[in-house]
Amino acid sequence: MVLNCLEVEVAGLKFRNPVLLAAGILGMTAESLIRVAEAGAGGLVTKSIGLKPRKGYPNPTVVQVSCGLINAMGLPNPGIKTFSEEIREVKRRVKVPLIVSVYGYSAEEFAETAELAVKAGADAVELNVSCPHVEGTGGEIGQNPELLKEVVSKVKRRISKPIFVKLSPNVTDIAQLAETAVKAGADAITAINTVRAMKIDIKTGRPILANRIGGLSGPAIKPIAVRCIYEIYERVRVPIFGCGGILNWRDAIELILAGASAVQIGTAIAVKDLEVFRTIPKGIEKYIRRKGFRSVKEIVGLSHRL
Ligand code: SIN
Repeated sequence: MVLNCLEVEVAGLKFRNPVLLAAGILGMTAESLIRVAEAGAGGLVTKSIGLKPRKGYPNPTVVQVSCGLINAMGLPNPGIKTFSEEIREVKRRVKVPLIVSVYGYSAEEFAETAELAVKAGADAVELNVSCPHVEGTGGEIGQNPELLKEVVSKVKRRISKPIFVKLSPNVTDIAQLAETAVKAGADAITAINTVRAMKIDIKTGRPILANRIGGLSGPAIKPIAVRCIYEIYERVRVPIFGCGGILNWRDAIELILAGASAVQIGTAIAVKDLEVFRTIPKGIEKYIRRKGFRSVKEIVGLSHRL
């Protein structure tokens, strides 16, 4: 019998391969999420959804730089009540795990949003406590251990599905915050969200993004992601979803060796296309077989044991 060496179980969820869609791109409608699943993704993470609809920032919200993308969308979303219909549609049509990314301006808002997402069919929620540029939420919560603890423990009391906590690299000690999240009830950590960044137009002298400051994603942040995952793996015993700058299977392997049980892809979809959900799992599988391993699980955190 040929075993599927790509299959992974993370926080009780079974993924056919360890390459998931990251929050923030193609995650706002059922149709786009279904397209990603059909392209081969092992799991889906939606765009971050709040309790109420939010318009987001005016354009320009994304700018390309030589080493990636800087975005400041401002968490645009239709609100969880409207988005629940998209969740139901995805669950009706595809079998891969659906993780709903949620944000809030208080622990209660996080909990209510998470509760409604689970009611609509989410297999897990990912708490966005790391958006680097929206006031009153995101990083302002995830960088404060007291607030982080309050949010995670409140959500934990309200839902019975797994909770992933997406952390920011814009901190002094990300492993410490991972530990706080785990003690409060996180079932997995997602690392990392984007790095605060900006771009200025030298012709006009003005910042390009309407919000001026945004979050950098793409190849420039991969070494930061590798370091953060490595440090978190040393500190906590829950699985890690690795995210940040993966463009190809070699990048994915690097994050897995650092300690990620699975990876999430965002910017690569914009600079390549959905083909990455076929080529990256294929490359991981070839690497595993070439190295004489039987499954992805055997190489998770391997660099810590060598
Ligand atoms: C955004 O919608 O502006 C991005 C969200 C994030 O970086 O977490």
